[in-house]
Amino acid sequence: MIEARNITKSFGELAVLRDFSIKITRGERIAMVGPNGAGKTTLVNMLIGAIPPDTGSVKLGTGLVQAVFDQNRAALDLDTSLWESLTQDGELGVSGKNDQIMVRGQPRHVVGYLKDFLFDEAQARGPVRALSGGEKARLLLARLLARESNLLVLDEPTNDLDVETLDLLQEVLDDYDGTVILVSHDRDFLDRVATTTIAMQGDGQAVAYAGGWSDYQAQRQTPAGVAKPVKIKQKSAAAPKSKAGPSSGLSYVEEHRLKELPGVMARLEAEIAKLEAYLADPDLFSTSPAKFAKASAGLLERQGKLAAAEEDWLDLEERASA
Ligand SMILES: Nc1ncnc2c1ncn2[C@@H]1O[C@H](COP(=O)(O)OP(=O)(O)OP(=O)(O)O)[C@@H](O)[C@H]1O
Ligand SMILES: [Mg+2]
Repeated sequence: MIEARNITKSFGELAVLRDFSIKITRGERIAMVGPNGAGKTTLVNMLIGAIPPDTGSVKLGTGLVQAVFDQNRAALDLDTSLWESLTQDGELGVSGKNDQIMVRGQPRHVVGYLKDFLFDEAQARGPVRALSGGEKARLLLARLLARESNLLVLDEPTNDLDVETLDLLQEVLDDYDGTVILVSHDRDFLDRVATTTIAMQGDGQAVAYAGGWSDYQAQRQTPAGVAKPVKIKQKSAAAPKSKAGPSSGLSYVEEHRLKELPGVMARLEAEIAKLEAYLADPDLFSTSPAKFAKASAGLLERQGKLAAAEEDWLDLEERASA
C-alpha cells in the first residue's frame, strides 16, 4: 500500500530522518514510538504523502483512501449537538433520513452508532461543549471511523482516552480491514494492536521491528538471530528487495503471505498474552460474567488463528527454502 525508499528529511540543521525504507502491506498495523520531537509525525506525514521527503521516494498504492486523526485534533464545533456533529459532517455519506448516517457504507441510526462509542442518548442530543477531553476524542474517533477508508492514521489518539475507550478503540481496530498507522506513547496499547513497530530515537534513525512494544524491547536486546520467526524491516542502503524470487516456488500471493505472517503471529501472541492476563483476575467471572465470556471466546478464537498462522508459516517457509 505504501512504499518508501531511502527517504530523508531535515528542517534546517536538524536531520529528522536519515535514509529510511519500508514497505507497508495491506492490513498491517504500524506503530511509531519515540520521544517527543523524534520525528514521528513528520515520518507519518511523509508516508501518507502529506509532506514530501527531501530525497528518496514514497509511492502510495492506487485506491488508497485515508482517514486521518491528527495530533492537533481537527476542531469540533462546541455549539452543535453530538448528533449534528455526525449528521452534518460533510465527509460522511448521507442516508437520506436525518436520524441516520452512513457508517462505512451502511446506514446506521445516529443514537445507536453513538452508543457504540459509549455515549448515551442524552449525550447524543446534548452539546459537544459538555464533553470532557477524552469524550471529545471519542467523538472524533466515531466520526473518523464512520468514513470509508482503507488507511487509518491515528497520531496520538490515546493521550486522554480512558481505559474503556482504549478497549473500544482496540476492538474497532481489530474489526478494521485496512491498514493502520498509529503514533502512541501507550505501550500497553501498542502491544495490543501493532504488527510492526518503528522506533525513532531522535537521532534521525528509524528502525522497524516486528510486533508491538514488548517485541521491540525484546528484539532490541537480542543482538542477532532472533529465535522467533520475525520479520525485521530494516532501514537499508540497498532497496528492500524480496528474497523469494521466481526460484522460491512461491506465488506472489504466497510470498506476500509469508512476509506478513510473522507480524500477524506476533500480534496474535500479544493479544493472547493480554487476554490470559485479563482472565487471570479471579474476580472477573463473578463481577462481570459477560466480559469474562467475551474474553474467553476472544482467547479461543485467537489461539485458533495463531495455530493456523503457524502452520501456514511453516509450510510456506519450507517451500520457500526448498
Ligand atoms: N515544519 C517544520 N519546520 C521546522 N521544524 C519542524 C517542522 N515540523 C517539525 N519540526 C521539528 O522536527 C522535529 C520532529 O517533529 P515531529 O513533530 O515530527 O516530532 P514527533 O515525534 O511527532 O513529536 P511529538 O511526540 O511531540 O508529537 C521537531 O524538533 C520539530 O520541532
Ligand atoms: Mg507528533
